[in-house]
Amino acid sequence: MTAVFAIILSYLIGAVSFSYVIGKRFRKLDIREHGSGNAGATNTLRVMGIAPAVAVLLLDCGKGILAVWIGYGLSGGDPLIAAASGLASILGHNWPVYYGFRGGKGVATTIGVVATLVFFPALISGIVAILAIVFTRFVSLGSLLFILGTTLITALFSDYFNVPFYFVYFLLFISGLSIWKHRTNIERLVKGEESKLGEKTSVK
Ligand code: G3P
Repeated sequence: MTAVFAIILSYLIGAVSFSYVIGKRFRKLDIREHGSGNAGATNTLRVMGIAPAVAVLLLDCGKGILAVWIGYGLSGGDPLIAAASGLASILGHNWPVYYGFRGGKGVATTIGVVATLVFFPALISGIVAILAIVFTRFVSLGSLLFILGTTLITALFSDYFNVPFYFVYFLLFISGLSIWKHRTNIERLVKGEESKLGEKTSVK
C-alpha cells in the first residue's frame, strides 16, 4: 500500500510541468504551442531565454530526485520502490494528468531520477552527453546519449557500482520512453534538419 502511494504521489509530482507553469505565469504563453512544441528546458531556452530554461532544468530535474527519495523514504529504503517511483515521475512529466496528458520528453526528470539511482554511471554519461552537446549543439543527441550511456554502463558494471541489476530493466524502459519521445528529433537528426542549441527557428 505504501508502495502504491509512493508511486502515485511521484506521478503527480512529475506531472507538474515547470516549463508550462513558468510560461503561463511569466510570459502568458503555452510552451507547447511554441518552438518545438516540447514542454521542456531546451524549448524554454528557445522560446523564453536562459534564466527560465535553467529554472526549468533544475526544477524538472528536482522532481525526479524527489520522487526517488519519496520511494526510498516511504518504503524504508527499498530500491525497487525507489526505481518505480522515479519511473512514475518520468511518466508524469511525459503524460501529465493536469495538462491533457501533453507533456515533455522527460529528459531533465530522467537526469534527476537516474543520477539519484545510479550516480556514477549517470555522471560518466552526463560528461559524454555534455561534450556531445558542446561539439554538435544537438541537445536531443546529448539527451539520448545520456540515457543510453547510463543504461549501458549500469548493465556492464552494476556489481562494480554496487547497484541491483534489475535497475537495468528500469533504465531500458526509460531509454525506450526517451527514444519514443525523441522520434521526431531522431528523424530530423538523420535528415540533418535538427535545430541546434541557441537557434531560434521553429522546428514544430
Ligand atoms: O529537452 C529535450 C531535448 O532532448 C529536445 O528538445 O525541444 O529540441 O525537441 P527539443
